[in-house]
Amino acid sequence: MTGIGGFAMLLYIHLVTELTHLRKAMQSHPSLGSFLSGTPPSEMVLDLDNLVIIYNRVPKTGSTSFIGLAYDLCARNKFNVLHINTTKNVPTLSLTDQVRFVYNVSNWLEKKPGIYHGHIAYLDFDRFGVSQQPLYINIIRKPLDRLVSYYYFIRYGDDLRPYLIRKKMGDKMTLDECVAIEHPDCSLNHIWIQVPFFCGHHSECWVPGSTWALEQAKYNLVHKYFLVGVTEEIQDFVALLEYSLPRFFRGALHLYNTGSKSHLRKTVKKIMPSEETVAKLQSTRVMRLEEEFYNFALNHFHYLRKKTLYDTEDGGLIQDRGRNFGYEKIKPRKKREFVT
Ligand SMILES: *[C@@H]1O[C@H](CO)[C@@H](O)[C@H](O)[C@H]1NC(C)=O
Ligand SMILES: *[C@@H]1O[C@H](CO)[C@@H](O)[C@H](O)[C@H]1NC(C)=O
Repeated sequence: MTGIGGFAMLLYIHLVTELTHLRKAMQSHPSLGSFLSGTPPSEMVLDLDNLVIIYNRVPKTGSTSFIGLAYDLCARNKFNVLHINTTKNVPTLSLTDQVRFVYNVSNWLEKKPGIYHGHIAYLDFDRFGVSQQPLYINIIRKPLDRLVSYYYFIRYGDDLRPYLIRKKMGDKMTLDECVAIEHPDCSLNHIWIQVPFFCGHHSECWVPGSTWALEQAKYNLVHKYFLVGVTEEIQDFVALLEYSLPRFFRGALHLYNTGSKSHLRKTVKKIMPSEETVAKLQSTRVMRLEEEFYNFALNHFHYLRKKTLYDTEDGGLIQDRGRNFGYEKIKPRKKREFVT
């Protein structure tokens, strides 16, 4: 077969597959069918039943506790939860995997609505021309606390799966000692984590201390994320999600407040670093930029919290402020007033 013949054949196979997908989609989604045939569908815009939420969780930020809520709610609230695992937990995807992932998440109708979670860096679905973007959410933590948690986690594990052998099990070196001898386990690569996770799949994102990466991470946080909470204030994060996306999170706050141990996960042993260690870490540009990013996220989160929620005076309940906008001066009054 000539190159062109082979290409035409592949294209043909591709088109046939696409058509089959489209037919299946039209059968299971009547509104999509009417959309394609030209009649205006009634609820095409922001279709919550077809929404995909991506929680690209950062390691050691309390993500396991949070995603436990989603697993507990998924049957009751009728949505899917899927974990994304990557080979060796590498957080960035190759170009071909990016296409596979975006194509798969966008077209996998049986898993909509759904929450995908996994340790992967932000991936901009816009670049791939998909029509409905996923909503991104995330949680970040004070960089120093995250480092301490990570450092001792790989040595001592956690109370969730105490039997699991961790990477550095049996190694008794403290974080103070690690920082003092500048051992790779506490190197700048282990601190430069939250900025690159939010920055994404560009090589510059992964250059520790890059100002460009920090700016990109801030940009994405504001423009591309639906909501970013902080580990220190998970309850408010859960409340904001419940009130803004009840389709998924109805009942989440109650579950969180009355939750059993299954939502908590603690590193078994942690030794807080000395002042000297903290000072040494904070004198690095990498830690400074990570802290700047955390504070930026925290500010934004507090702002949203204040605008959206209030605490009842008696029981300390968190409530939504309710709807504070409306429409008026609506013209024309009737459809037939349109001049055509
Ligand atoms: C992801 O997990 C599944 C189930 O444990 C496993 O079969 C698969 O090989 C994993 N994929 C990668 C890329 O590690
Ligand atoms: C998405 O990937 C899963 C697992 O590999 C597969 O079972 C499913 O058919 C894929 N869906 C689409 C629409 O590609």
